[in-house]
Amino acid sequence: MRWHLIASAVTLALAACGGESAQPSRTPAGVAKFTTIDFASVAKYSAPALPAYFDKTVTALDNSPGSNPVNDRVATLGRVLFYDLRLSTNDRASCASCHQQALGFTDSMRFSNGISGAATTDFHAMRLGNLRYWQPGSTFWDRRAASVEAQASIPFHSLVEMGWGGAAGGFDTLIRKMGATAYYPDLFAWAFGSSTITEPRIQQALAQFVRAMISSSSRWDTGYAQVFSPTAPDRALNADLPNFSPQENRGRKLFMTSAAQGGAGCSSCHVPPTFALAADARSNGLDAGEKRLFKAPSLRNVGLTGPYMHDGRFATLAEVIDFYDHGIQQGPALDNRLRQGRSPRRMKLSAADRAALVAFLMTLTDPELTKDPRFSDPFRR
Ligand code: HEC
Ligand code: HEC
Repeated sequence: MRWHLIASAVTLALAACGGESAQPSRTPAGVAKFTTIDFASVAKYSAPALPAYFDKTVTALDNSPGSNPVNDRVATLGRVLFYDLRLSTNDRASCASCHQQALGFTDSMRFSNGISGAATTDFHAMRLGNLRYWQPGSTFWDRRAASVEAQASIPFHSLVEMGWGGAAGGFDTLIRKMGATAYYPDLFAWAFGSSTITEPRIQQALAQFVRAMISSSSRWDTGYAQVFSPTAPDRALNADLPNFSPQENRGRKLFMTSAAQGGAGCSSCHVPPTFALAADARSNGLDAGEKRLFKAPSLRNVGLTGPYMHDGRFATLAEVIDFYDHGIQQGPALDNRLRQGRSPRRMKLSAADRAALVAFLMTLTDPELTKDPRFSDPFRR
């Protein structure tokens, strides 16, 4: 009785200062053997420290639902799930197989292999940084999953990715496999307060982990932090950056300036400072007659690896810029920002301007997100 009272007092005190809901603090003992996670000081995924220019204009775009508030323990569980090869039928694929941290959470294949070396995905793997700042909240290139939560268990069901189709016994078999490990029952109890493993819990944990992948530490950020002012015209997005070469500043200007004012108008869809897609963006005219609406992942870390677009059709950023310059195709889904009257726009950029745009895109590489230990592989291998 006495011990019980002391324990609850401690839990209450912890809850009061940490702002977290009361949870059992039992350390998931089985996990220590398998992972390098320090359960005594849990990594922080909630309340991220953001630069001044990630103000309410950015946080208003956050697609995190009220029903899945970030909890550091649940996000830590998400990290384990993201890297665990055992969550595939043959222990050969995890989320991280196709979403590699060093590459900005994508891979360099046109289409990816999951559990089999032979079968591949239908689309190119997407980078994941700043995924939370896309207001419609939908996921996949063709926006078919309604949310990050809904997306998070689809790879498990996929016969190509992690393999839990009907023949493999389906999701129930995956849950039984997880329940038989030395660590998941303890980890779920530690994160959720009970050891029950369910698909919604898996979705919540993975979605919290993926949404925590915020990118705000590129060379563009270092420069922009020096010129940013919330009251400057256009929030100083059009100012030259002190840490950029003349070529990078030329590319930056083309990217940020609308077509009407002689620029390439990229920032009207790939919106700074997150470089995630604008909520109202339609398609970019890759194919004539295209009716589908595609989304693009944030352009942060786009320079780390090709190929590009939903089907990985372009191997290099130079090819991407050539496409925007003179390759845009007419179709019902084509966005007006890429039209000129009724026709697809022809930008007629000089070779130097095209090279400058590529140079600018390279400044969006974020060496912190690609090395942040909170997003690294926690398994001892
Ligand atoms: C075999 C490779 C592969 C595996 C394994 C894989 N993914 Fe993906 N991922 C992709 C591909 C390909 C796409 C784009 C698919 C599409 O649009 O249909 C994608 C898209 C996504 C997106 C959408 C991003 C956006 O901006 O809309 C998220 C989120 C994501 N994956 C997370 C995960 C998680 C979490 C896991 C593990 C449960 C996982 N992926 C496993 C290849 C993979
Ligand atoms: C109308 C909105 C719009 C405009 C304007 C626009 N884009 Fe895009 N961009 C998109 C969409 C949508 C996609 C994803 C297309 C797909 O794969 O189906 C995309 C894809 C890309 C990609 C590939 C991303 C990846 O992960 O593979 C790059 C790079 C890119 N755009 C750069 C630019 C540049 C540079 C400009 C200016 C010259 C520009 N975009 C103008 C909407 C736009």
